Amino acid sequence: MMNGDRIVQFIAREDLIDLALGHPDPDLLPVDGLRRAAGAAFDRYGPDAVAYGSAAGPAPLISFVCARLEKIDGRAPSPSEVVLTAGNSYGLDQVATLLTRPGDAVLVESPTYHLAIRILREHPLDVIPISSDERGLRVSEVADAVFRLRQRGGRARLLYTVPTFNNPTGISLALDRRRELVALAASEGFTIAEDDVYRELAYEGEPPPSLWSMAEPGIVVRLGSFSKSLAPGLRVGYLTADEPTARRFSEGGLLESGGGISHFASLVVAEYALTGEYASNVLRLREEYRRRRDALTAALDAEVGDAARWISPDGGYFVWVTMREQADLAMLLELAEQHGTSFVPGPVFHPDGRGGQQSVRLAFSRYPAPMLAEAVRRIGSSLLSRPGHRAARA
Ligand SMILES: Cc1ncc(COP(=O)(O)O)c(C=O)c1O
Repeated sequence: MMNGDRIVQFIAREDLIDLALGHPDPDLLPVDGLRRAAGAAFDRYGPDAVAYGSAAGPAPLISFVCARLEKIDGRAPSPSEVVLTAGNSYGLDQVATLLTRPGDAVLVESPTYHLAIRILREHPLDVIPISSDERGLRVSEVADAVFRLRQRGGRARLLYTVPTFNNPTGISLALDRRRELVALAASEGFTIAEDDVYRELAYEGEPPPSLWSMAEPGIVVRLGSFSKSLAPGLRVGYLTADEPTARRFSEGGLLESGGGISHFASLVVAEYALTGEYASNVLRLREEYRRRRDALTAALDAEVGDAARWISPDGGYFVWVTMREQADLAMLLELAEQHGTSFVPGPVFHPDGRGGQQSVRLAFSRYPAPMLAEAVRRIGSSLLSRPGHRAARA
């Protein structure tokens, strides 16, 4: 949206059905409910709603996070184990700021959320990729990497992972590997930064338990966010950690200086949750995104089933599609954009840029089902119009 000549928000390309975008559909953002909640926050708190907030965030939202996690993760943190954040991007940046030193080694699942790689490198940390398969992160490779680092006189300080409804693969880490991973972190002394941003968006029953819920205190910092389950522009999320670690965040310079990071927005979320609307909004999102996931995978079956394979995700925003034959992804992307759609090429999600050469990430979050089907039809046309494909058929 533009306001005069001032840009108000992220602008999507209008000439594309852009499946590269891991964004919610603006039509699914609950504007009326949030408007009421903002009014309710002013009614209840008056000027305190927009004064400096308490460092860890306002108690009403912390209480809600505790209760909600008991419901969706089977283990409630105590309020002193929660610090509100401005979303997971901010949370990860704070983890890197407070729990690492420049040059430390951080193990990162590969493929992974590409912008997390950037955040970690900006600190700057030494990002070491660990591969994954259809059961998620290969924990045996984590053990190997830790061993190699130790042999060189170093150590792994942090491991970053999206174990539940991964971005970009949609895969969740298997339960036995979850257990192995938290045990390994405990024995080797590295912290797990668990990016749990998609937990609420589960389409096939309950999501798996978080690493945080399975670990002894002090092993995992879990990052949760209201970006996917409510609205990303609020910039409200939370982290759960053991009490001493949580205190490092709430007593750090950033929060001491500015108070709670998203104070007003956190109060708005708390008011919204109090009415029961948050829970019903999540149910509505699950239903709609499940429909979209099914539309996308049905279209893939129909249009590119011979040329590619994928795993239908149990949650989140993405389908990771792998071509059966070697693909020139740069050319395919160019053709797709000429046909009016787009995607993110697989290598972007690999810290070393070397994996994912035959894969692309498609997001089903931003567009309704018929537009997703049309986008996949356009990808199918792009595949058919590749010069190599014509030559093969001639
Ligand atoms: C895995 C992952 N982490 C973090 C984010 C960003 O989350 P937030 O809006 O809470 O900063 C995203 C958004 O796409 C994501 O996919």
